[in-house]
Amino acid sequence: MAKLASKPQPKGKGKESVRILISRTKLQHRITEMAREIRKDFPDEPLHLVGVLKGAVFFLTDLGKQISGDVSFDFIAVSSYGVGTHSSGQVRLTRDLDSSIEGKTVVVVEDILDTGMTLQYLLRVFEQRRPKRIRVAVLLDKPERRIAAVRADYVGFTIPNEFVVGYGLDYAERYRNLPDVGVLSLGTAEKRAAKAG
Ligand code: PRP
Repeated sequence: MAKLASKPQPKGKGKESVRILISRTKLQHRITEMAREIRKDFPDEPLHLVGVLKGAVFFLTDLGKQISGDVSFDFIAVSSYGVGTHSSGQVRLTRDLDSSIEGKTVVVVEDILDTGMTLQYLLRVFEQRRPKRIRVAVLLDKPERRIAAVRADYVGFTIPNEFVVGYGLDYAERYRNLPDVGVLSLGTAEKRAAKAG
């Protein structure tokens, strides 16, 4: 679930709304380019894509379809606490991989790189498992919010510090199914509810 630290902004009166930031056409175009970049860097190698649930699901499936050659998938899930409110935001593994990554060329696939705490944790976990190498592909990079010293090898779009939803990204588990990435603004009622919560 999306972090409380980057709350959607209230938009005065009216209803909750989403303004498209990156259209589905732009997403697909850039994802195709990213797939080519990744395969170009490793032309002859099997690639093992590791998607970070749940936000990365659509990105992984679209990216995976565009990478030619030998590709396998696995998924991992984490939850995080205190990111943004405590500088030591803690991350916990809630679902591990199905198979070993030892000796594999792993591409970690994330929907968004925000504080970087999740990725920092995952890279530590994966490095202990002796993969051949690890690369990181993120669809969205929000560098203004970075706390951990991590970076992605492949970035779809660098975005400003706004609360984004859609294409896998949620607000309280909603909006993941939007085909575009948009900026969420809360209406007055939702603003009151968010404050109360
Ligand atoms: C999001 C996203 C990343 C993480 C990035 O997951 O999918 O995993 O936050 O944030 P960070 O760089 O600040 O660590 P989230 O915890 O919202 O879970 P979800 O993917 O299930 O929505």
